[in-house]
Amino acid sequence: LHRTVKTSFEVDLLLPIDREGDVPLHVQLEQQLRAAVRGGRLPAGAMLPPTRLLAADLGVSRGVVVEAYEQLTAEGFFQSRAGSGTRVATIDNEPVPTPLTDDGARPPRYDFRPGMPDLAAFPRRAWLASLRRALMSSSRLTLGYPHPQGALAARAALADYLARSRATVASPERVVMCSGYTQGIDLVARLLRERGLHRVAIEDPGFDGVRRAFRAVGITTLPVPVDGQGLCVEQLACTDAEAVVVTPAHQFPSGVGLSAPRRAALLAWAARRNALIVEDDYDAEYRYDRDPLACLQGLAPERVIYIGTTSKTLSPALRLGWMLAPQHLVSDLARIKRHADRGSPTLDQLALADFLVTGELDRHLRRMRTVYRKRRDALVAALQAELPGVRVDGVSAGLHLMVKLPADVDEQWLIAQAKAQSIALFGAHPYFAQPQGEAPALVMGYGGLQESLIADGVQRLARLIAGAGGEPVAGAQRSLTACTAADGA
Ligand SMILES: Cc1ncc(COP(=O)(O)O)c(C=O)c1O
Repeated sequence: LHRTVKTSFEVDLLLPIDREGDVPLHVQLEQQLRAAVRGGRLPAGAMLPPTRLLAADLGVSRGVVVEAYEQLTAEGFFQSRAGSGTRVATIDNEPVPTPLTDDGARPPRYDFRPGMPDLAAFPRRAWLASLRRALMSSSRLTLGYPHPQGALAARAALADYLARSRATVASPERVVMCSGYTQGIDLVARLLRERGLHRVAIEDPGFDGVRRAFRAVGITTLPVPVDGQGLCVEQLACTDAEAVVVTPAHQFPSGVGLSAPRRAALLAWAARRNALIVEDDYDAEYRYDRDPLACLQGLAPERVIYIGTTSKTLSPALRLGWMLAPQHLVSDLARIKRHADRGSPTLDQLALADFLVTGELDRHLRRMRTVYRKRRDALVAALQAELPGVRVDGVSAGLHLMVKLPADVDEQWLIAQAKAQSIALFGAHPYFAQPQGEAPALVMGYGGLQESLIADGVQRLARLIAGAGGEPVAGAQRSLTACTAADGA
């Protein structure tokens, strides 16, 4: 039985339903609608017919349609608002970290891409030496399928390194190696889905990869605002989230550290709710003028899944990351990892182990902190000189900062204009889960840009802004979020 359904957007949809088959009707309908969204037949923003109407049209009970709509809403394909029906969701405009030169494209001259380390400073010689030692000293058995948690030597070296540098509670048994943070959060999302969780709180603004990972498994993400002290825990407490993903050392993209009272409140919330905290420690190695913020995992190792990566310290091309998991979750995470890819590449892990125990990572980081601090200083100085009055946030750590643009500057327009002048700029807009006319802002990375180019690039940027009529005026910008409530959660 094939039925054609017309949505209120006049999109003709063929929704074939097989009543004789074994597949439940609501599952069939979900599959059809999902395929229609993926294939573009149901465009973003299109209004879906009311459940009663569609049910009547298909000759099924209304419950079948309600169930399909709810599932697709949970998966992020649909959005529903009380009183205004259900629409096809607007899919993210992914700020994809495109390869710089592999496709033959000329890299931008002024590359303000956030979160990129200096690729030219990758310690090739030391890494090669570690890789060579790892390969030459490894046994025949090392070349078989990896242990799903990762090579023991790598887990032991990381446990030592994380315990001393990040005050984690770490042991090789808690470590699960993964392919960067991106795989780590994907495995965590699958684990939480398996355990029946439905709602996970995320920072807003935040790293868009987190939203994608949960959406892929049908978990609803609940955006919680961020202010000058980090995640607004008081607002988190108003949700019914069963877990939360945070960047406490250096909130992405705002750059603030989670304050001590908020840390305490977050841990108290998790204990009260018996909730899990996922800690993204993506660039905690870099801090310039503030004391290190110890990680949350060290304070509550049975409540926190900690995820780290070499993407900001060495290179995102390595795709090397790790998780420290509560003991009761390790074996499930390892199983999910094994099913995903049968384990991360062993030789790279062994090279990392060697790199850590020979002190090469410490040496590299000492060197790079000085380089990045100078670049940070150069960027802040150039912004102050060229765009006086513009607010700059998140300068004390990491590899990027936030620049609030004058209110009348169009973020997208500026980015497009800059691109034409070989300046790679990134706006804050894509990092908001629910963009609601936020003040225009840039997330500016300085890791990969030489000091001499920074001043030049900012000068050009200032000229573009002036051309847009955006003479910067102190205090003219809206704050990043409206969350200012004292946090007593
Ligand atoms: C907030 C945040 N977490 C994690 C990562 C790193 O991801 P990966 O380790 O997959 O490269 C990034 C990189 O852009 C990031 O911005």
